[in-house]
Order: sequence, then C-alpha cells, then structure tokens
Amino acid sequence: MADKLYVDNTEATEAWNTVLFDRFSEYRHIFVTALRQFSDDALALEPPLPGDRIVDLGCGFGDTTRQLATLAGPDGYAIGIDGADRFIDVSRAETEEENIKNVEFVVADIEQEVPGGPYDYAFARMGTMFCANPVAAMRNVRGAMQPGGRLCKVVWRRKLDNEWMQRSEEIVDRHVPPPDAEESDALTCGPGPFSMANADVTTDVMKAAGFENVGLRRVDIDYFVGKDAQEAVEVAFAIGPAAETIRLAGEDAERVRPAIERDLVDLAEQYSREDGTVVAPASAWIVTARAPSQT
Ligand SMILES: C[S@@+](CC[C@H](N)C(=O)[O-])C[C@H]1O[C@@H](n2cnc3c(N)ncnc32)[C@H](O)[C@@H]1O
Repeated sequence: MADKLYVDNTEATEAWNTVLFDRFSEYRHIFVTALRQFSDDALALEPPLPGDRIVDLGCGFGDTTRQLATLAGPDGYAIGIDGADRFIDVSRAETEEENIKNVEFVVADIEQEVPGGPYDYAFARMGTMFCANPVAAMRNVRGAMQPGGRLCKVVWRRKLDNEWMQRSEEIVDRHVPPPDAEESDALTCGPGPFSMANADVTTDVMKAAGFENVGLRRVDIDYFVGKDAQEAVEVAFAIGPAAETIRLAGEDAERVRPAIERDLVDLAEQYSREDGTVVAPASAWIVTARAPSQT
C-alpha cells in the first residue's frame, strides 16, 4: 500500500468503525472510568451554561454528550458527532433507553463538516486528535459556533507523562520490529492520540482555525488501567500505543506475544495497588478557546 495519502480521514474512520470500535466496546468500562476524571475537571474549569446549545466532538458512545445535555438543562441541548456510525448507533440506543430528550447524535467527520449549530459551547474528550488536517477540522468547529462561543476539549499530553502508555509501548518496541508503513494494509487512526500533546502546535492549530483566547491547563490524574494485572495487560494489548504497534505489526507481533505478555505483567505489577487494581500517572491538556465575537 505504497500510495497511502493522508488527505482525508477515510482510513481513520474505517479503523474507528471496525477494529477500534470492537476494542473500545470490550474495554469501555475501563477507559470511560479513567477518562471521566479528565472530563469532570474540564467541565468544572469551563462549565457549559443552562440553555447552551452544545456540540460534543468525536463523542464515541455518547457518555459525555448525555452529561452535557443534563448540564444544559431543558432549555438547552447537546448534539454528539462522531465519524464512526457504530458509535453513533450505540449512543442513540442508550439515550433512548435512558429517555433523555435534549440529545441527538449525528454521523459526521468534523474535518468535512460540523452539522447543526450555531453552538454556544463545543466540547471534546479525546475526540479531536485523529484528523489528518486538524486546522480544517477546528475551523469547521469554529464556523459552527455562535460568535463568542466557548470551546473546551481534553487532549492527551506527552507520552512521557502517561507512564502506562509510554512504558508499555517501550516494551512492545523491544520485542517487535517497527511496522512497515509502506507495506502494511492495517488501518491506522490517523495522526493518533498524541497529535495535540505539544502545547505550541495545539495553540497554533487553534489560532490558525480562527479561535481566540486559547489556553492550555495541565491536568494530572491517577489513571485506572485494570482491576488487576491480568486485565491491565489485556487492555495494553487492545487499546493505546502498545496495542497499535502490535496490531500494525500483525504476525511479527503475535510470534513474540508470550514474551511481551511476561514483561507487561511485570510492568503492571509495578503499578499495582494493595487492592490489586493497576493505576498509573496520566496527563492531559484541557484546551479552552473562544470563537471571535465578530465573524
Ligand atoms: C478516543 S475515542 C473518544 C470517545 C469519547 N469522546 C469518549 O471520551 O468516550 C475518539 C472518538 O473520536 C471519533 N473521531 C475520530 N476522528 C473523528 C473525526 N474526524 N470526526 C468525528 N469523529 C471522530 C472516533 O470515531 C471515536 O469515537
């Protein structure tokens, strides 16, 4: 596949709609629990107001969309947008079961369009880092906002401060040769979860997209990786940078799986608490910005 061109998100969307959807579904109980700490901090720092018209970008299973709708109250609403229709199907079904009225879900790639609006408030929890062209995506977001509208999004900070992901990837890198990007047919998720880790780059992306008052606040948390070492290792094989290296390496990685597993168990034990749970330091940016008052 020598002619891969990252001009749009087709490949990433397919990855999210297939293998990543399956894996995130299986380990939803882990990552939603872990990420909730970041989004709760973000929503405390920059809360939406009652009556706000809200958009949740890359909403996944819609957990934050429903939370945002509750915060907006009966006079406001929240629309969750995701490029992968399987996430949207689950979001809609669960919202119907919970009988929440002021929520809607739409399938859209934010790099192509941000449907609906104008929005008073745009939110994202780890949903905006996978765009081949982040400026185009954030420009679409800004264009769908009310003048003076507020944005608040959570993105991963650098891997070095996300110890479980950094160290599990180092282990895999020791055992598995790097995947050959020219030859591999495996779907990647675009620039990946750490594409907004650099504060200068992220600030410039937001400014180039036309946002003002861009601010980044660092948040450090204790990140829940699994109820025990075994589950933490399963998660490392399924989600995150180590999992992506394994997945993209295919059979080369499967051949050395037992050795990787042994080293990952050792790593998990270094982060095991007395009750057996595995918890490691993790770090994200809460990015805040405003759409200009006059457009
Ligand atoms: C790491 S998950 C986060 C999901 C959710 N925000 C949460 O915190 O539980 C990233 C989500 O962003 C979606 N996504 C990635 N790129 C997107 C794009 N360009 N447009 C819309 N959604 C996108 C994926 O399909 C996936 O559901």
